Amino acid sequence: MSQTKEIPLMEKIVSLCKRKGFIFQSSEIYGGINGFWDYGPLGAELKRNLRTTWWNAMMREREDVVPLDATIIMHPAVWKASGHVDTFSDMMRECPFTKKRVRADHVEPQNGIIIQFTGARSPSGWAFEGQFSMLMKSNEHIESFRKRVRSLFSENRSPSVPNRKSSIFKAEHEAEGNWKARSELIHAQILAPTLQSFTVKVGDVSYEAKASEIWGKAEEIELLGEEKCDVVKDSKDFHPETGAPLSTPKPFNLMFHSFAGATATESDKVYLRPETAQAIFVQFKNVVDSTRVKVPFGIGQIGKAFRNEVTPRNFTFRSREFEQMELEFFIPPDEAVRLIHSNVAAWSEGADLSVPQPNWGWEMWHRYWVAQRTAYYAGIGLGADVLDYHWQKMDELAHYARACVDILFKFPFGTEELEGIAARGDFDLTQHQKRSGKPLEVFDEELRAAAVKLTDEQRRDFIAEVQEDWNDRNKSREDAAIFCERLLKGFYVPHVIEPSAGLDRLALAVLTLAYTEIEKTDAKGNKETLTIMRFHPRIAPKKVAVFPLLKNKPELVAKARGIYETLKKHMAADYDEGGSIGKRYARQDEAGTPFCITVDFDTLGEKGPELADTVTLRHRDDGTQERVQIGELLGRLLPLVS
Ligand code: GAP
Repeated sequence: MSQTKEIPLMEKIVSLCKRKGFIFQSSEIYGGINGFWDYGPLGAELKRNLRTTWWNAMMREREDVVPLDATIIMHPAVWKASGHVDTFSDMMRECPFTKKRVRADHVEPQNGIIIQFTGARSPSGWAFEGQFSMLMKSNEHIESFRKRVRSLFSENRSPSVPNRKSSIFKAEHEAEGNWKARSELIHAQILAPTLQSFTVKVGDVSYEAKASEIWGKAEEIELLGEEKCDVVKDSKDFHPETGAPLSTPKPFNLMFHSFAGATATESDKVYLRPETAQAIFVQFKNVVDSTRVKVPFGIGQIGKAFRNEVTPRNFTFRSREFEQMELEFFIPPDEAVRLIHSNVAAWSEGADLSVPQPNWGWEMWHRYWVAQRTAYYAGIGLGADVLDYHWQKMDELAHYARACVDILFKFPFGTEELEGIAARGDFDLTQHQKRSGKPLEVFDEELRAAAVKLTDEQRRDFIAEVQEDWNDRNKSREDAAIFCERLLKGFYVPHVIEPSAGLDRLALAVLTLAYTEIEKTDAKGNKETLTIMRFHPRIAPKKVAVFPLLKNKPELVAKARGIYETLKKHMAADYDEGGSIGKRYARQDEAGTPFCITVDFDTLGEKGPELADTVTLRHRDDGTQERVQIGELLGRLLPLVS
C-alpha cells in the first residue's frame, strides 16, 4: 500500500476537529491517553449518522439481515475457541531501555549513526549487558535519550559510593546531587550524527561540546572518533523513538483483559472483545431459533471493540478503543448448493451481482458483498476516485479463509484499509460448535429432499467428489466424509461472508474527504482562507441552520425560531443569531452544514406580498442562494438529508 505522506493536511484536519468539536483527545486535561479519542458535539452527530447509514443499508432496507446488540465482555471460552487467546497477536519488538514496544511491521526505515555501549546493569534487575548499539538520528534524539536514561537512573537511587567507572549519565546525576546509584554503566562509547552540541553537566561545569570532549572529561569512558562511526541506512532494527536496538520479534496479544468477580484471579480473567463478530457466531443458534431467518441470511452488529494496539497512530485510524460495523452473512456450503440446484454459479467477469440467486456459491456471494459495500460508500460520497481494493494473495489469507478483499481509502497519510470483506468458510461456527459442544448446524428441508432422490451410486460419486475437492484444499478425506454424511441428511454448518468496517476509520475518511479550503477576499480586500467541510448531506452532523437577519428584530427572530422548531423535529438543525450573516455562514461551512436559511425583511413581506413567507436558502458547496416558501422547506430538505 502506498505511503504518500501529507502531514500538513492531516495536521489541519486534527486541528479543525478540535476547534470545531469533532474529535478530542481522550482525557486531554490530564495529558491525554494514547490511542483513545472522544467525539465532540459535531463528531458525535457525524458518527451517529454514519452508524445510521450502515444500519439502514445493511439491515433496515434488507429482508435478509437482522441486528444483534451483544455484550463487550463474553465468556473467556469464546476467545479461546475463536483463536484470539492463542493467536490474536502482532509481532512486536521491544526497546531494552523503556520497554516500549513497536509492531515489527510498523518500523519505518531509519538513517543515522550508531552509539555503542559495552554494557550497563543495576542490581534491581533492568540491565543491558554486553555490547549493544543505539541509533542516533539527530542531536535532539541524543538529548532525549540522555534524559530517558537519567530518569531511569534516578528511579534507582542508593546511598552507596558511586562507581568510578562512571558514565556521562552518572556524572550528571552526581552533579544534581541525587544520584548515588549502585547502577553501573561500564565502558560506554558514544557516537552521534554530528557529535556536536551535546550538553551535559559534570560537577558544576556545563559542557557544550563534541561528544568526544565530553567523554574525554568523563575519564574512563572510551570514545570512538566520528570517523569510526557506523553509518546506518534504511534500518528497521532500531526503536523509532529511543533509537535502541530492537529485540527479536515476539508475538504480543492485543486483547485487553480485566477480571469479572471479586477474587481477580486468573480464573476470573475476562477480555474486552477485540471484534464484534464473535458474539454473532455465539448467538447464531438463538437468532435462528427466535426469528424466521433462513440461510442465506445475515446478522449485523455495531459496537465497540478494543485492541491494545502497540503503535496507535494516524489520529483515530489505529486506536485502542474503536467501533466496528460488522455483518456475518451466512450462506450454504457450495456442496449443498450443488446438491439442490445441480450446479453452483461461480463468479466470472461481468457476472450480474444485482440480485442474489439461489444457486450462488461463496464466490458470487463474496463478490456481491464487495459490490454492495462499494455502492454503500458511493451513497455517502466515497466514490471510485477515493477508494481502492486490495485482494489478498493466497499467502496473505488466514488459513481458513477462501478470499479476502480490503476496501482501501486514500487517506492523507496513505491508502489504507477502511473495511475488510472476508469469505471465512465455516471456521467460526465449527470452532464454537466443537468447543461448546452445542450443535450450530442448520437443517435444510430442500437439501434433504434433494439428497433423498440420489441413488446409492450417485451418493458414492458425490462423496468421492467432495473428498477429492477437500483433499485439493488440504482438508482431510475423513472430515469430508463426516461432512457429507450430515449434508445428505440435510444438515450443515453455514459458511460466512464477513464485511467488517471500522466506524472511526469511516469517520476519519469522510472528515478528510470533506475538508476543503477556499481563498476569499473580504470587503477590505484582504485575502483569507476559509474551510468548508463538504460532507454528503446524509452524513453531515447538522443538516440545516436557521438565522434571523438581525437578532434585535423580534419579528425576524420569531419567524426564524418557528422555522427552526419545525425543522428540528425532522433533522439535526442549528439556530444562530450571533454575528454578521457572513460569519454565521462561515461557521456553518466549517461545521459542514449543507443548508442555511435566513429570515429577512422580505420574509416579513416588507418588499411586497410576493416575497412574504419566503426565506433565503443557501447551499454550502457553491454558496448559491434561492428564495423558498417556508411551507416548502421541509419537503425540499428532507429527501436531501435522509
Ligand atoms: N471481524 C473481522 C475483523 O475484526 P479486522 O480487519 O481486524 O477484521 C475490521 O477489522 C475493521 O475494523 C478494519 O477494516 C478497520 O476499519 C477497523 N479496525 C480494526 N482495528 C482498528 C483500530 N485499531 N482502530 C480503528 N479501527 C480499526
